[in-house]
Amino acid sequence: MLNTGQSTTKHSIHSTQLWGIMTLDAFFYQVFEFLPRQGPGCTGATKNAWSLLPPLPDGAQILDIGCGSGTQTRDLAALSTGTITAVDNHQPFLDTIRAQSGKDGMDGRIKTICASMDTLPFEPRQFDLIWSEGAIFIIGFEKGLRTWKPFVKKGGFIVVSDAAWFEPNPPQDLVQWWEREGYIPGTEDQLKEQVRNAGLNLLATYRLPEAGWWEHYYVPMLARINQLRGTQGSDPACAALLDSFEDEAETYRKYKRYYGYTFFIMQNP
Ligand SMILES: C[S@@+](CC[C@H](N)C(=O)[O-])C[C@H]1O[C@@H](n2cnc3c(N)ncnc32)[C@H](O)[C@@H]1O
Repeated sequence: MLNTGQSTTKHSIHSTQLWGIMTLDAFFYQVFEFLPRQGPGCTGATKNAWSLLPPLPDGAQILDIGCGSGTQTRDLAALSTGTITAVDNHQPFLDTIRAQSGKDGMDGRIKTICASMDTLPFEPRQFDLIWSEGAIFIIGFEKGLRTWKPFVKKGGFIVVSDAAWFEPNPPQDLVQWWEREGYIPGTEDQLKEQVRNAGLNLLATYRLPEAGWWEHYYVPMLARINQLRGTQGSDPACAALLDSFEDEAETYRKYKRYYGYTFFIMQNP
């Protein structure tokens, strides 16, 4: 998962200089800027989560937080008649969205804003729907819901996907792996409690199917890792970063019955 925060060992080495030509931070984005998406998910799952919402008004105002290069942004534009405001703090992802939406003839309906998810530049109750796939972990589940809720109209909706334990008592080495990643998932019940604590009503939950992890995320990522090993794999810092991404995919392959992503479909009462 793409975390540009400082909390993980994987990403706390961003400013390391590689042969004086680029930082590890820049190399990190060399992986993710070339992927169709930057976190687990897929169009089928976006559609399924959308289908659990009541109908939105025509021309609904939708905010997509932590949009990355915008696969789900384009899906939201196709699913709705509204305007999608796509927010990310990495401008090159937003440039990709703008280029693609121009080609798709969607540029009138997709706006991009480079901003941080914890200081969003919007008016209170501006949106009918906030959507965020695989990004709320950056701010924390309950804190993210509390921070974003004021931007949703009364009766409006928030949909997020986040990591959750699917089985009680996960293996200790898996728990330790998540600890090293700097983020410990909650159980779905714990996350539901956080939804209530944030003052939202839970309408439904939906688990991301395995294809959203493998075919749509790790398969392209592993192919990109192979390419980069050919060009930059002899740099030890690059190799270590690529190893850590491979380890993440292998961890999912080995332990996928214990955890996954769950969509939470919520209403602001
Ligand atoms: C795991 S990716 C998910 C991207 C996309 N939603 C998807 O599913 O493909 C998380 C995204 O959040 C962005 N991000 C990281 N920290 C952020 C912050 N503080 N504010 C806004 N976006 C942030 C990253 O640049 C990245 O695009």
